[in-house]
Parts: sequence; structure tokens; C-alpha cells
Amino acid sequence: MRIAVKFSYKTLQDLRDDAKALQLTLPIQEDTAPLAAPLTVNRGRVENRLGIHPMEGCDGESDGSPGPLTHRRYQRFAAGGAGLLWFEAVAVHPRGMSNKRQLRITPENVDAFKVLVEAMHDTARQAWGGQPYNVFQLTHSGRYGLQRNIAVHIPELDAKVGLEPDYPVISDDELAALVDHYVQAAMLAKAAGFDAVDIKGCHRYLLSELLGAHTRPGRYGGSYENRTRMFREIAEAITAAVDVDLAIRFNSYDALPLPYGWGCDEHGEADLSEPKRFVHDMEQLGVGLFNVSASSPYTAPHISRPYDQPGRFGYPPPEPQLKGVDRLLNLGRELKQELPNSVVMGTGYSWLRHMAGEVAAATVAQGWIDIVGFGRGAFAYPDFANDILRGPGMQRSKACITCTKCAELKASKALSGCVVRDSEVYLEPYRQLDQKA
Ligand SMILES: Cc1cc2nc3c(=O)[nH]c(=O)nc-3n(C[C@H](O)[C@H](O)[C@H](O)COP(=O)(O)O)c2cc1C
Repeated sequence: MRIAVKFSYKTLQDLRDDAKALQLTLPIQEDTAPLAAPLTVNRGRVENRLGIHPMEGCDGESDGSPGPLTHRRYQRFAAGGAGLLWFEAVAVHPRGMSNKRQLRITPENVDAFKVLVEAMHDTARQAWGGQPYNVFQLTHSGRYGLQRNIAVHIPELDAKVGLEPDYPVISDDELAALVDHYVQAAMLAKAAGFDAVDIKGCHRYLLSELLGAHTRPGRYGGSYENRTRMFREIAEAITAAVDVDLAIRFNSYDALPLPYGWGCDEHGEADLSEPKRFVHDMEQLGVGLFNVSASSPYTAPHISRPYDQPGRFGYPPPEPQLKGVDRLLNLGRELKQELPNSVVMGTGYSWLRHMAGEVAAATVAQGWIDIVGFGRGAFAYPDFANDILRGPGMQRSKACITCTKCAELKASKALSGCVVRDSEVYLEPYRQLDQKA
């Protein structure tokens, strides 16, 4: 069996050959014109098929408003030519913050977010003549927050962070009370000028953990209806309160065995029957934009973001990374098949480095997904979209090398960005991590 190798393709043909050798289905095409086609999402317009995934920068001010480096990141993204910017996870409640510098929107700081959105519009207009469709990600970090609010006990994950079996689980009343906080944050996001709000349901943060809360008693656990209840309550309450487009970034599957994983069988392999039902239910409630992810960086990072180097908190990739890319792309494809009338954004392209554009073009042209999202790739190469759409194509020297240093920075709860390609800002903070280690 082939094991992981570092990205070493010299030509697209090498990539094609490796995909064939691994019996993968991921498509590749030289013609990137399909990525230039605009499309309608909910009531808005996306100027092209390239998007940037939400990426926490851990650089907010103490009141939750964007800091100078937050502004810098989003100006670079806005100038880069992508048609859709999926803004990073913003906490709806102080208890749901993942770190002290996570963004949080409040009535007191909403104007600071408005300034950021207006500056992004201006920057994009001047740089490439368009305006990105901006999605605001609403989150509660749950198990992975500063205060660990777990939805359900999972012995293996509890043990990793020293949670005792009698550690309290967030109550049904506390969950119900959070709905108003999601609504409040959605109203503020709309007031700040965002086009859509995302009820974040991925990577095993609070709402994502609820989807897999098979063993939780009460209104929010056990049956499919109960595990998805919070999403329905939030979507309905937002729709009743504010006229804003609805989006969801969700896990197609958790890669955790039953009875703990969502979209999984007893071995932790994907079983998409519930996720397929879920996307139909969400579509019925007015969600028109879906972003398909998988697993969690805390449990199986090789599934959620294939990498060459594991970083200090990870492990060597247990499979060829191209297989991981192919898996993520196919998960997007399978869910898009359920959603012919909605817009689906795919995840899993950054490991492909400067060859990502050709895979992106083929997945859009063949209807696997509608919009291609770049996460780490955008930290490294914020103007990748300009290079793909307006020439000269993606440049090897600017592409993400999946070294995982951005995630190491984030895990240390200090900043996040590209240590290699944006070293002017992020190398020194990374060196400081080394000194502390
Ligand atoms: C430093 C860092 C921060 C991230 N922050 C978020 C986030 O705020 N919200 C989210 O949904 N995903 C977040 N992710 C996951 C990415 O959006 C994306 O799913 C992942 O990196 C895989 O895409 P890629 O291969 O293009 O990087 C983050 C990932 C990294 C490495």
C-alpha cells in the first residue's frame, strides 16, 4: 500500500498519473474559464466560482472587534479577486469563544465590523472591479472553547483534555437560551453589511457535536429530530427576525465511530444518509448556501485538511494526501447531488498547491460543486483568484506548502497566518512558539 508523500508533481500529467495509480476520480482540466462564471446565491450574486474559507486569525481586540491584523487579512482577501469571502468563526456568546482574541460581534462593536466590510468593498472594487459576497460565520466553540461546554460525553475525547465522567454537559435550557444569541449576532452581521450568516455546524464545535449526540438524553440528543433541532430553531428564529441570506458550513461526516459520529457508521466511515436528509431539511428552512467539510482538526486533521507536514500537534499522514483530497471533493459532490437548486462550496483544494486551479475548474465544470473554497491556500496566496482568472495562473512560488504552521499558531491561541509566504508578519510569532516549546 502506498503511503503519504510530499507534494512532488512537476506537471499536471504527474498529478493525473498519480490519481490514476491511486484509482481516484478527481477530475483535472487545463481550461479554467468555468471558474469565471458568475452565479446567484440566495438573493445575492457571486462574481466568480472562487471562494475563501473561514479561517480564524486569533487577532481580534479585547472587545471582540477586528484588530489591525484582521483588517490586513481581509483587505488582502478582498483585493485577491475571489467572488465569495466566508468570514471566520465569530463567537455568539463569550462562553463560546475559542480564544481570547476570537472575534465577537456585539451592539457596542458592530460599527467596527461595518468599517471592515465597507473597506473590503472599496478594496475589491479598486483591485478587480467586483464585490465579494460576504458570509458571516456564527459559532459557539463548545468542547473546544476556553470554557469547555460539551454537548455529550465522549470518553476518548474527554480523556484527552482531562474531563471527568461527571463533568457537566451543557443543559437543554442553556442550549435553548443560545438561540437568541445566534439571532442577535445575525442581526448585527446584517447591520454590518454581511450578505449571509452561516450557522456553523462543522469540525465538532458545539452545534456540530450536537449532530453526533446520539447518546445525549433530552430534547437535543438521541433521534435525528433532536440532534438537528438546534439548527432548525436557530434558522427559524433568524428568518423571523432579520432579512438575511442563510448558509451552513457543516460536516459531511465526523470520522468518529457510532455512537459518537455524525454521518458515520460504527467504524467511523462515511454514511451520508442523515447528512443528506439534513441538507434537504435546511434547504426547506431557507438555507441556500452550503459549505461541505469533514471531521475535525482535533481528531483527524488528515481528513479535514490534507497536509505534508503534521506540525507539532499532529501525526504523519496515514494515507496518500491525494486520497484525502479526493475524499473531500467527492463528499462535496455527493451532497451537491442532493442540492441541485442550492449553491454548494467545496473544501479540500489547498494541498494541490499551484495545480489547484485545474482541479477547481474541472470540479465546477463537471457540476461536482458550484464554488471552490481555499483555506490555508488563501492565507499563503490571497490573490490566487486573480492569478487564475486574469493570468498568469497559480504560481508555484506563492502556493501553500501545507506545512501546518498556521494551525500550530492557531492552536497556541496566538494569531494565525502563513508563516512561510507571509513571513514578514507571522515568522517571528512562530519562532516565539519554538522558544516557548
Ligand atoms: C488556522 C486555521 C483556522 C481555521 N479557522 C476556521 C474557521 O474559523 N471556521 C471554519 O469553518 N474552518 C476553519 N478552518 C478550516 C478551514 O476553513 C478549511 O476547512 C481547512 O483548512 C481545509 O481547507 P484547505 O485544504 O483549503 O486549507 C481553519 C483552518 C486553519 C488551518
